[in-house]
Amino acid sequence: MKFFVDTGDIAEIRDLAGTGLLDGVTTNPSLIAKSGRDFLPLIAEICDVVSGPVSAEVAATDYETMIREGRKLSEIADNVAVKVPLTPAGLRVCKELSDSGTMVNVTLCFSAAQALLAAKAGATFISPFVGRLDDVGTDGMDLIEDIMTIYENYDFPTEVLVASVRHPMHIVQAAKIGAHVATCPPNVIRQLYNHPLTDKGLATFVEDWKKTGQTIL
Ligand code: G3P
Repeated sequence: MKFFVDTGDIAEIRDLAGTGLLDGVTTNPSLIAKSGRDFLPLIAEICDVVSGPVSAEVAATDYETMIREGRKLSEIADNVAVKVPLTPAGLRVCKELSDSGTMVNVTLCFSAAQALLAAKAGATFISPFVGRLDDVGTDGMDLIEDIMTIYENYDFPTEVLVASVRHPMHIVQAAKIGAHVATCPPNVIRQLYNHPLTDKGLATFVEDWKKTGQTIL
């Protein structure tokens, strides 16, 4: 499973890139607003730090403006994935950009039917929002299972990018289903490392090693 970080915070991205476990970055207009940074130079900076896909979302909702925005974003770097909303105009933009060799991430997916359309439109990634579905009393992971089944039935190359991840179990459940990517807030990636028995066990090993009076180096 690939790990993307879902943030516009360049310091967090640099820090997580240092783990060697980061495969890409996703942003959205809300995260850009939170960052307080200018969008285009920020995406360029992220693309310098991370060699994997960096999702940059269009701001318009009409086809004509979205396609121009998408082309401009795709020119920032080879690893930009243009993010478009799952609307008729967004999927039209998806098809056109995909046909011209640009990676496209179709966002705001909340149904299997929508995911089927995105795959047919040539999306590189489909982003189902599991946390927001959980928030309204629907199991977001059921959607991931349905999309994986449909994509496997037809050998669609579109990768399922699990978004709106809220906690480590979302990642574990998505991995058990076989989803290709999880995009996670920085704190959720860090939570993956944690287990109290690891901390307890390590403290004991450190203490016991001291008793040996030895050094390795
Ligand atoms: O970037 C899309 C998605 O991951 C947003 O998540 O937490 O705002 O529902 P959230």
